Amino acid sequence: MAFRWLVNAILLGLPMGTTVGVLRGIDIHRASIGQSPLFDGSDSDLIGGGSGSGSSTAADDDITPGDNNITTSQYCQKSLEINPATKGTHYIFNPNQWGWTEGTEGSLCMNISTFNNHTYATNTTAPDFSVTWQYPAGDDTAPVHAYPNIKLSSDNLPVKLSKMKSLTMDIEWSYGIGTTPVAATNITSLTTNLVNANVAVDMFLDSSKSASQNSTKASFEFMVWFAMIGDSAEPIGLQQGSLQTQVLNNVTLSVFFLCIIFRVCPQLTCFLSDLYAGQNDLEQYVLTWLAPVTTEKFSGDIMPLFTAVLEANNATFPTSDDYLGSLQMGSEAFYSNVNVTFSVPAFSVDL
Ligand SMILES: *[C@@H]1O[C@H](CO)[C@@H](O)[C@H](O)[C@H]1NC(C)=O
Ligand SMILES: *[C@@H]1O[C@H](CO)[C@@H](O)[C@H](O)[C@H]1NC(C)=O
Ligand SMILES: *[C@@H]1O[C@H](CO)[C@@H](O)[C@H](O)[C@H]1NC(C)=O
Ligand SMILES: *[C@@H]1O[C@H](CO)[C@@H](O)[C@H](O)[C@H]1NC(C)=O
Ligand SMILES: *[C@@H]1O[C@H](CO)[C@@H](O)[C@H](O)[C@H]1NC(C)=O
Ligand SMILES: *[C@@H]1O[C@H](CO)[C@@H](O)[C@H](O)[C@H]1NC(C)=O
Ligand SMILES: *[C@@H]1O[C@H](CO)[C@@H](O)[C@H](O)[C@H]1NC(C)=O
Ligand SMILES: *[C@@H]1O[C@H](CO)[C@@H](O)[C@H](O)[C@H]1NC(C)=O
Ligand SMILES: *[C@@H]1O[C@H](CO)[C@@H](O)[C@H](O)[C@H]1NC(C)=O
Repeated sequence: MAFRWLVNAILLGLPMGTTVGVLRGIDIHRASIGQSPLFDGSDSDLIGGGSGSGSSTAADDDITPGDNNITTSQYCQKSLEINPATKGTHYIFNPNQWGWTEGTEGSLCMNISTFNNHTYATNTTAPDFSVTWQYPAGDDTAPVHAYPNIKLSSDNLPVKLSKMKSLTMDIEWSYGIGTTPVAATNITSLTTNLVNANVAVDMFLDSSKSASQNSTKASFEFMVWFAMIGDSAEPIGLQQGSLQTQVLNNVTLSVFFLCIIFRVCPQLTCFLSDLYAGQNDLEQYVLTWLAPVTTEKFSGDIMPLFTAVLEANNATFPTSDDYLGSLQMGSEAFYSNVNVTFSVPAFSVDL
């Protein structure tokens, strides 16, 4: 048993951490090679696929008065930064198929629905997006093919943890078999079709401002997993057991105890999560808050997850002098026998 655990940790746990680190490296490299101004949804080079990489940035002055239409654009590139225009908080999208080689089996396309008037429901609301993908099982040592994601682009980053008062998020997502978004996630039907993936917010921290924005250099990776689908996707430290449990969103004492005892939140708004931690082979400490029950909707402040870590008095954890440098949300795509669609109809971050 102990031997199996060790094997799992080596084959599954460690490479996962590495791969997340590596993909961050790719993102940062993309950012460093500059951006070409392109994004109006009518650019035929960008719609319906093609390959290669680069970036796509919006201009903020191309609004036609009275045009409240919604434009959906599809991106099937291996890697591409898409920066839609908005009057509110900016977000950068990337299909980010970093663990896939063009021309080999498998595919991933990301659809983004942008408002032509650049005015979303709130100042922090992101455009809706969905991702349809299918990959065969990869190498055990490099099982992740892609991390299609949305990234917060804010002048408030990096932020010192001692200065961070709250980190409020609204997230709504679904995962389903097929090429169209499903209304509700059915984990049984996903695992029956051998879907292996997660749904996660991924953040990086360091005592240096610049290193906190570099995913390979940062000392800490800090994640919140809303779902763990299939046997391949598991956070570092899972096999060692949870270090602590938190219930978020202003719950009463009785709700708190129900949550802790039955391992399910009795009300829709509360969020139960367990902390796992360990080191990846880039020697970064990876801290993961994992919801033991698939959580398709989250609305609230995740600051208590940072506070709990700061108060844990563990020498391998971040301190209040560290900076949060980047924040992304997406799904790590391991493999699937069939096409699956990950849909994110609501996302916003207020920092
Ligand atoms: C908005 O979409 C409708 C339906 O596709 C189209 O008829 C109309 O011309 C569009 N409006 C603008 C301003 O592009
Ligand atoms: C912008 O377009 C969206 C999508 O059609 C619409 O819901 C919203 O009301 C529009 N906002 C303004 C300020 O016109
Ligand atoms: C949204 O941002 C604009 C410009 O920064 C600001 O004037 C407005 O008050 C903000 N609205 C809300 C609801 O925060
Ligand atoms: C994404 O966009 C393409 C092209 O418009 C469309 O064929 C496909 O059905 C869309 N996928 C989803 C999941 O909405
Ligand atoms: C989920 O999928 C399984 C297997 O396909 C099916 O038996 C079950 O009825 C589904 N559950 C719901 C709530 O649709
Ligand atoms: C991030 O850190 C790595 C490792 O130290 C370095 O090779 C890379 O150039 C850095 N990236 C940026 C954009 O600074
Ligand atoms: C928490 O819930 C209590 C009782 O439901 C309410 O009075 C209080 O205002 C809430 N606090 C926050 C921060 O939402
Ligand atoms: C401190 O964190 C490490 C992971 O980085 C973990 O292995 C260890 O058990 C933690 N120590 C305590 C006392 O929780
Ligand atoms: C998945 O969907 C894409 C696009 O619709 C299609 O080209 C591909 O053949 C599908 N793959 C499988 C395994 O069904």
